[in-house]
Amino acid sequence: MQYIRIDEINKHADEEVQIKGWVTHIRSSGKLIFIEIRDGSERVQCVVYKGDVTPEIFETADGLTIETSLMISGSVRKDTRSKLGYEIGVKSIQVVHQPKDEFPISPKEHGVAFLHEQRHLWIRSSRQVAILRIRATIVKAARDFLDRNGFILFDTPILTPTSCEGTSTLFETPYFSRSAYLTQSGQLYDEAGAMALGRVYSFGPTFRAEKSKTRRHLTEFWMVEPEAAFFDLDMDMKLAEEFVAYIVSEVLKNNTYELETLERNIVKLETIETPFPRISYDEAIDILKSTGHEVIWGDDLGGDEETVISNRYDRPVLIHRYPVECKAFYMKSDPQRSNVSLCCDMLAPEGYGEIIGGGQREDDYETLLNKIKHHKLDPEPFQWYLDLRRYGSVPHAGFGLGIERTVAWLCGLNHVRETIPFPRLMDRIHP
Ligand code: 4AD
Ligand code: MG
Repeated sequence: MQYIRIDEINKHADEEVQIKGWVTHIRSSGKLIFIEIRDGSERVQCVVYKGDVTPEIFETADGLTIETSLMISGSVRKDTRSKLGYEIGVKSIQVVHQPKDEFPISPKEHGVAFLHEQRHLWIRSSRQVAILRIRATIVKAARDFLDRNGFILFDTPILTPTSCEGTSTLFETPYFSRSAYLTQSGQLYDEAGAMALGRVYSFGPTFRAEKSKTRRHLTEFWMVEPEAAFFDLDMDMKLAEEFVAYIVSEVLKNNTYELETLERNIVKLETIETPFPRISYDEAIDILKSTGHEVIWGDDLGGDEETVISNRYDRPVLIHRYPVECKAFYMKSDPQRSNVSLCCDMLAPEGYGEIIGGGQREDDYETLLNKIKHHKLDPEPFQWYLDLRRYGSVPHAGFGLGIERTVAWLCGLNHVRETIPFPRLMDRIHP
């Protein structure tokens, strides 16, 4: 008997197979028992007919409870009524483990706090499985795109001596006789990598001690950060839009079933094609003012402002050249206009807000040193970073894409906490 994954069932029509999984649903009507089994790859209905099996097997089937783990053997039959197109006519059942208690999560409504307390079990439910599968596609698509475009994977440290994205969101941790900080971004190291390998990307967990309880903020999230030597802002924006368009197309291609499970309106994703609209920060401020929002030039754009801007477009929008004062110390100022940075943010449509932040880096030694001082940072621990401007400095640029916000957008979720197996929020570090 061949052991198969449920998602390979279409290759085994009319064959005898074995599947291994968990009971998700059970219903009986006299001589027939319908058991829905999931194995992580898919779900399938298994039909036990009293006349086909021994009395012991029928009794086992009748006594099954939700989340019992088991092995089932039987014949694969066409079933045009089911989404999968097949069902299994059961011949034998072997229970692997009978749950000790009733499974805490049922199809009925549960509160968000309860579900998060049960996250280790909640991830078994079909919506959560769909989200996590889409997350995996997004990660794979991001890597494939960069691998194929000459970017070399470059692993940056998690324990770091300094901040990258401002000191207000740093997690400090004891490190022998001193302090270290959990990385906020691999970027500074990626820049060193780009000077060695030309094009690199880091992909890993990043940490922000965000005191904000919003639907877009986690304290631990995953970021993919390409960085390229000899790239300017325009090349960076082009890379960012092609990158995101590719990720969206891969999700549409590979996750039809999952998007359907999530009831995602895919028409809104099918329009995501390059080129993406590009507007300057100045234009964004004009739009906000003309629609009655109280903003003044120099303010950073908050979540509400981002939503107003992004709702004007059917695809992500790039906003470039923010005021120098609202951006990080490493940003290069526009040589044409020194009060704005050569930076860009990408805002996802449908109110999902910023998914990418990036831009061109300051590549002049003196200017960078002054910026470090201006941001009241100690230049000493940045000497290695300044070295990149001492030895063969070149124009370079990059960006960081937040995986969780991308998952939230593509899955149509209203909060990032369901986009990662075990979310870390200001008020949640369990389980
Ligand atoms: O805009 P950010 O802070 O940019 C950087 O960290 C740059 N050093 C990246 C670079 O140029 N290499 O963060 C980049 C992205 C954001 O656009 C957002 O998608 C995500 O990371 N992000 C968060 N996601 C979830 N929770 C948070 N607290 C996040 N902070 C940033
Ligand atoms: Mg940002």
